Amino acid sequence: MSKTKSAFFCQDCGHESPKWLGKCPGCHSWNTLIEEIKVKKSSSSPFSRKASEANPKQLNEIQEKDNPKFSLNDSELNRVLGGGVVQGSLILIGGDPGIGKSTLMLQLAIKENIKILYVSGEESEQQIKMRAERIGIENQSCFILTETNLDAILNHTSSIEPKLIVIDSIQTLHSNQIESAPGSVSQVRECTSQLLRLAKEKNIAILLIGHITKDGSIAGPKVLEHMVDTVLQFEGDRNHMYRLLRTSKNRFGSTNEIGIYEMQNNGLRIVENPSEILVTNSDSDLSGVAISATLEGLRPFLIEIQALVSSAVYGTPQRSSTGYDSKRLNMLLAVLEKRCGFKLGAKDVFLNIAGGIKVDDPGIDLAVSMAVLSSNANLAIPEGIAFSAEVGLSGEIRPVNRIDQRISEVEKLGFKKIIISNNIKGFDSKKYGIEIVQCSKIDEVVRNVFS
Ligand code: TYD
Ligand code: MG
Repeated sequence: MSKTKSAFFCQDCGHESPKWLGKCPGCHSWNTLIEEIKVKKSSSSPFSRKASEANPKQLNEIQEKDNPKFSLNDSELNRVLGGGVVQGSLILIGGDPGIGKSTLMLQLAIKENIKILYVSGEESEQQIKMRAERIGIENQSCFILTETNLDAILNHTSSIEPKLIVIDSIQTLHSNQIESAPGSVSQVRECTSQLLRLAKEKNIAILLIGHITKDGSIAGPKVLEHMVDTVLQFEGDRNHMYRLLRTSKNRFGSTNEIGIYEMQNNGLRIVENPSEILVTNSDSDLSGVAISATLEGLRPFLIEIQALVSSAVYGTPQRSSTGYDSKRLNMLLAVLEKRCGFKLGAKDVFLNIAGGIKVDDPGIDLAVSMAVLSSNANLAIPEGIAFSAEVGLSGEIRPVNRIDQRISEVEKLGFKKIIISNNIKGFDSKKYGIEIVQCSKIDEVVRNVFS
């Protein structure tokens, strides 16, 4: 039996070295040598493809499978995956430590009634059981395996024959064929490519959890992004309860969808109507609060924008924004100063988007400007008004995409009035039951709201 050999290759110039070196002797660049397999055993993996197995075929010769997608019990995951999990696909879920990746995956594994193998290299069986009890679902078709050796996992897979495998996390796996430590770039890459082969050959969907760390010693999921079919990003503010699941790559669906969850004591709850939680329905009239309709992907929801404007104590006024681009905030402040004559130059401005979410939709510009003006004048925006428009450099109110969806969402949540741009082609305001005010300049909006 020939033994697997590995060598170190420079990722820049391809120089080969039998041992690791900090500096490549070929191109003199630092930290570019990475271990790679040189000669594989002829039957190294039980799933290796034989040369004669695949033949070239014409498109019409390829048989379609009856149902290549199967849907999960989790409607948000189905949505971000484009309607369900494609059989034989490899899905990577990345996210900061502690965001809830393991919880999401375990919850998925024990909610489903299909055969699932949940492999954890991070927690013991007892810890997983405790987490499952916390989530509170009993399930007979989910197998838990605590293992980090890839070859052992592959062996278990052939005996259990699951329909779906969850790996928590790819950075803890190691293959016998490579000597470097688990989590190194070459291990992560080798393990993923073996799992990819398993997924495609046995038609098993595999969900990989990948960590993102600032520490260079653990390979980030970036290395894997080109290998997998779908990349999901689980994000949110760890101090807030809401978590967003986004797609940054999807070979089988759109990357525009998001899923929203709320972290509770007993696991992650699906948030079906995000607007209701992101907008506080307080009765008291507070200045500096404006509501905007925004879109995340194709999903409309309302957000609450809070601004605080106060006289600067120190010479240079502070501008700080959470959840919104601070450069864009500065631009809006300049527009308000120059085009509308509000003296904001000597004021501290703090902006916050409630719920700890980040928005980069220009459609919330108008609401940001109105929140700032409301706080500056210490006048509350009357209840029941929402905004949805972009603000241009000359103070003009510009249209935003998918205005129909935004208006419907505002109407659904019982608002009385929405302010939008007057420059929308083919727009018919009569088909809505809500008052629609169309403005062309920001001072028009100010007059409409505060008079
Ligand atoms: P975890 O899934 O372990 O994060 P990751 O795998 O991404 O590192 O989630 C950890 C956090 O979630 C932890 O801070 C506790 C919290 N949590 C809850 O609030 N409720 C729960 O039911 C569970 C299981 C976890
Ligand atoms: Mg985890």
